[in-house]
Amino acid sequence: PAITFISFEGESRTVNAQAGATAMEVAVRNNVPGIDGDCGGACACATCHVYVDEAWRVQVGEPSSMEEDMLDFASDVRPNSRLSCQIKISDGLDGLILHTPERQG
Ligand code: FES
Repeated sequence: PAITFISFEGESRTVNAQAGATAMEVAVRNNVPGIDGDCGGACACATCHVYVDEAWRVQVGEPSSMEEDMLDFASDVRPNSRLSCQIKISDGLDGLILHTPERQG
C-alpha cells in the first residue's frame, strides 16, 4: 500500500509500505523526515507523533488508552493525533495520508 507523508512545511512524500509494518517503520525505512521513533515502536517515546488526514480518521481508528497516555508527551496534540508506531499498515489503508508535526517531543 502507498502512504503519503506531508510535512509541516507542506512537502509530500509517497512511499510504498509493506502490509503488516507500522507507519513509523515505513517512515524510518524510507528516511521520511519528521518521524523519529526513538523507542523502536514500543509506544514509549511519542517521537513518532503524526496527524491522520481527516479523510482517513475512521479507517485508521482511535488510539488505545496506552497510546493516549503516551500522546500526552507529544507536543501540539490534536483530535487526529496518533503515534505512528501504533498504526498497522494494511491493504485497506492504501493511499493513507499522514501529516508530520512541526517537531517531535
Ligand atoms: Fe516510540 Fe512510537 S516509536 S512511541
